[in-house]
Amino acid sequence: MAPIDLRSDTVTRPTEAMQEAMRCAELGDDGREGDPTVRKLEALAAEKLGKQAALYMPSGTMTNLCALLTHTGRGAEVFLERTAHIISYENSGISLLGGLFYRPIAGTRGAMDVTALEFAFESGLAAKKLSPALVCMETTHNTAGGTVLPLEHMAGVQRIARANGANVHIDGARLFNAAVALGVAPAKIAAYADSVCFCVSKGLSAPVGSLLCGTSAFIDRARHFRRMLGGSMRQSGIVAAAGVVALEAMVERLQDDHSNARRLAEGFQAIDSSMVDASGIETNIVRVDISASARSAQQWVKDLAAEGVATSEYGRSQLRFVTHRHIGASEVEQAVAAMRRVWERASSSRARTAG
Ligand SMILES: Cc1ncc(COP(=O)(O)O)c(C=O)c1O
Repeated sequence: MAPIDLRSDTVTRPTEAMQEAMRCAELGDDGREGDPTVRKLEALAAEKLGKQAALYMPSGTMTNLCALLTHTGRGAEVFLERTAHIISYENSGISLLGGLFYRPIAGTRGAMDVTALEFAFESGLAAKKLSPALVCMETTHNTAGGTVLPLEHMAGVQRIARANGANVHIDGARLFNAAVALGVAPAKIAAYADSVCFCVSKGLSAPVGSLLCGTSAFIDRARHFRRMLGGSMRQSGIVAAAGVVALEAMVERLQDDHSNARRLAEGFQAIDSSMVDASGIETNIVRVDISASARSAQQWVKDLAAEGVATSEYGRSQLRFVTHRHIGASEVEQAVAAMRRVWERASSSRARTAG
């Protein structure tokens, strides 16, 4: 039997409607005169985010890098919450490839401490007029556990950036999850930034792709950086077609993923309250602290795999579960039951050792 795959929402496979759209997609050469289906996806993305234009790229990582290169230049200073995906998981591309200097800002639940951000502006390279600066926010915030940045916070960060002459970029790989959780249009969130990256390849279930949205002038410039990064594709309408379906038909159902994540967390909390506080689950990511089991996260991943549940470790003492379209009520129930069995085994082996 296939495992219940809770490692990420990136494991979602294209829907029937996506497969049909991919079969029928009108295609062109996106690196030359353009691919009509890519153009359609870009226009739809720009409209949904309330921006003038959008650009389709293979991944969120490339989209963020392309955005940062387009905004800045070598030696520029980029302010990010210290556990941002761009810092933690994008292999230092912005430094190695872009020559950008990132300044991590302390944060809570993915939200930068605005006083620390102000201080960073006062004491950084920008204040000494040595380099331009850019501020990046991430919502939902991956490593903080799918948390959603409050809109007042975003407005505050934007104000500080503006006051210091800096642009703002949003890494919104899961921006639509944030919009659904807040009950607002995605454009409302995007309004707090000059550029936004979001992925259709995660909970929205398309097989490939991310979009960068911003002004037409910004996107024209970004197009050159995309080519530099090797991101200009050819008949990419074949995958963009699934992205169009993602934006037209897959947004509202994200609420199901959020409800399932909450149920999953409630089940884990009922096993042992040290694992997770279910009331803190805002979207589709559940981080679980297994330190009370005295078993490593690595061991837990193995034990759960043996129980038919695929998950991933986050550090040495936490696990990460992500709900998505292939996870329903029955999978939630089975995952909780598997966690309970592993927890009970860990507890009895702890008791034996103590005895
Ligand atoms: C917040 C965030 N930004 C960017 C990315 C990178 O997206 P990709 O895997 O498409 O490169 C991810 C991936 O999970 C993410 O969670």
